[in-house]
Amino acid sequence: MSSPYIVGNWKMNGLRSTLAEARAIDRAAARYPKVELALAPPATLISRMHDVVNAIGIGGQDCHVEDSGAFTGDISAAMLKDAGAQFAIVGHSERRAAYGESDATVRAKAQSALDAGLTVIVCVGETEAQRDAGDAEKVVTSQVAASIPQGEDVAPRVTLAYEPVWAIGTGRVPSVDDVAAMHRAIRATLESAYGAAGKTVRILYGGSVKPDNAAELLGADEVGGALVGGASLTAESFIGIVEAVSPAQED
Ligand code: PGA
Repeated sequence: MSSPYIVGNWKMNGLRSTLAEARAIDRAAARYPKVELALAPPATLISRMHDVVNAIGIGGQDCHVEDSGAFTGDISAAMLKDAGAQFAIVGHSERRAAYGESDATVRAKAQSALDAGLTVIVCVGETEAQRDAGDAEKVVTSQVAASIPQGEDVAPRVTLAYEPVWAIGTGRVPSVDDVAAMHRAIRATLESAYGAAGKTVRILYGGSVKPDNAAELLGADEVGGALVGGASLTAESFIGIVEAVSPAQED
């Protein structure tokens, strides 16, 4: 099994002064050699963060489907890469909801990230109404099937993030059994898309991951890490999550 991958999504938070938190996370990372850590700051901070960290990955929170052109306000995957990013998050539910991003758009963004030489974290997740209607698995597996980039050869550069919309920023989390069941369903979908290569794609859980629930959530079957929003904004809470998942190795 690969090491847990714990990614912080800063969303629209972070100024230059906040880079102190990234530096503290980066320094702490040395004590956790069994965990892979990364942050996705706002695009304005990628280059500066790249200059001050060594041990953690850096990614963008979104990218445009095109490399360049007349798309005012947008940022391409090639630009993220040029700024120092190694990965891009695509299809976050906040973007699906606020900007009407469809599965097809998310897939195109994922493909453009891969084309630019980035790895990609593809996000999926059901709304509360969909879960209440008993449709969560159907909704999520169909998002996975239609949002991931195609071709078995790309599988090693793809990570999935399962984030129930109703758990994001709410403090509510699904039961461990529900997380495990969903991650198994996602695994089956990845295997039908990518064949044997689908067995090793990491599937992260996201939605109100905190230091006090991280060990339990990340202990669930098929959970290969976490995508963390609010609790990734300070080194104290982000490293608290890492410590809960894999206690520090002191030298
Ligand atoms: P949260 O956000 O940890 O603040 O719930 C998770 C996410 O949206 O990635």
